[in-house]
Formats: sequence, structure tokens, C-alpha cells
Amino acid sequence: MSRTKIVAGNWKMNQNLFEGKQLVTDILKRSSNLSENVKVVIAPPFTQLELAASQIKDTEGFYLAAQNCHQEKAGAYTGEVSAYMLKSVGVDYVILGHSERRQYFGEDETLLAKKVNAVLDAEMKVIFCVGEPLEIRDANTQNELVKKQILGGLFHLDATQFEKIVIAYEPVWAIGTGRTATAEQAQDMHAFIRSVIEEKYGNDMAANTTILYGGSCNPANAATLFACPDVDGGLIGGASLKADDFDAIIKAAF
Ligand code: G3P
Repeated sequence: MSRTKIVAGNWKMNQNLFEGKQLVTDILKRSSNLSENVKVVIAPPFTQLELAASQIKDTEGFYLAAQNCHQEKAGAYTGEVSAYMLKSVGVDYVILGHSERRQYFGEDETLLAKKVNAVLDAEMKVIFCVGEPLEIRDANTQNELVKKQILGGLFHLDATQFEKIVIAYEPVWAIGTGRTATAEQAQDMHAFIRSVIEEKYGNDMAANTTILYGGSCNPANAATLFACPDVDGGLIGGASLKADDFDAIIKAAF
């Protein structure tokens, strides 16, 4: 299997400039010299991006992500940051569709499809998050919801564009709760996502798309989750804020 493994740290709204600088220093101290098929992606807040870009620029295998962007390139959108601006400070990936953006900022598939286009137009890649809330899991309708999220946010893309997409499956009930999906639940959903991609883009695209798991991933459970055949690494929240924990999770992806 040749697809790229990724361990990405989503810092969310944490760390001021000085704390963030130290965290990147600590991560680099522990986790450089990686094998070439594991990429480490750091997704700090906007205020940290330029500095983090300068800190990681000479370390092979390290990449930078933003946590959101606006769908327009420029204009009178007070408080917003465009994909075009992110590209200019050295961002490689933009996380879109995170459940916190969907829940607290009302982002839906129509908007997310526009943001996906903006990121690809600015020549970056997308980490596109999908996942179901607890009531959907309890009703056992998670596959329908995740399929709808993928169709609405991504399936307007042609094959060349879709190659720039990484998918992150993050069950909402597992985010920040300490309740991780079992390896079986993660594997089942990742295999399902791959089958959805196959229906539209064919077998090669399905086999080559990187699909990450996110939700209370930590040093104790990462190896079990990453051992699932369709899990290609993780999108890590809380544990990415501790260099030792993040390093252990990165090493679990080898
Ligand atoms: O994007 C990462 C995420 O939402 C998972 O957060 O804290 O449960 O690892 P956490």
C-alpha cells in the first residue's frame, strides 16, 4: 500500500505565540528524522502560522496546516483570512469541515464546497473532516450522514482535484471526550468511506486516498487504531499539545 500516512496536530484555539513557539521546538526535538512515508502536520492558530513555518522549514517530513479559511480570495470580510493569504505564509494544508466549525459556526456542505475550491485554487491541500454526532451513531445511521458530508463537500471535484484531499473521520462523540471509537468502528467507517470514494472516482483513487482517524487519540490507543488497514494516521487534538504524547502518536504511525 503506497498511500501516505499522516499524523496531524490540531491545536484548536490554544497556545499564545510564545507557548506555541516552545511547543514546535519541543516537537521538532523529539520527532524529526522521520521515515519518508509518514508526514507530520502541525495546525496551530492563525497567529502562529508564519513563525511555525519558519521553525519547520528545514525539517523534512513536517508540514503546516491552517484550521479554517474564508471562501473568497479577498474583500470586505472583517475578521476573516483567505486561502490566498495562508498560502503566502507557507501553509500546505487547510482543515475544513471540522465538527466544531459545523456546530458553532453553522458551516454546511454548500459553504464547505466553496472553501474546498478556495484552498485548491490557492494550491494547497485539504484535510476534510466528517463524522457523526452521538444520536446518529445511536440510531446506526452514521454511514448515511458521512456519505452525505462527503458528497456535498467534495464530490463536485474532478479526479485531479480530489487527489489533493485527505479525509479525517472524527466521530463527534469521541472528540475531547476521552471516549475513542473502537478499532472496529474506525476500520468499518474508513472502509465505508473508501467504498464511497470508489463509487465516484474508481478503485485507484479509493486505494490512494489518505483517511485519518480523529477523536481522543492518545499514546495508549494510537497503535491499535493505526494498525487498522484503512486507517492512515490521525488528526489529534488535545494530545498534540504535549510534545511527548504527540511524539508517541507519531511513532505509532510507523
Ligand atoms: O481535530 C482533532 C479533534 O477534533 C480530536 O480532538 O482532543 O479528541 O483528540 P481530541
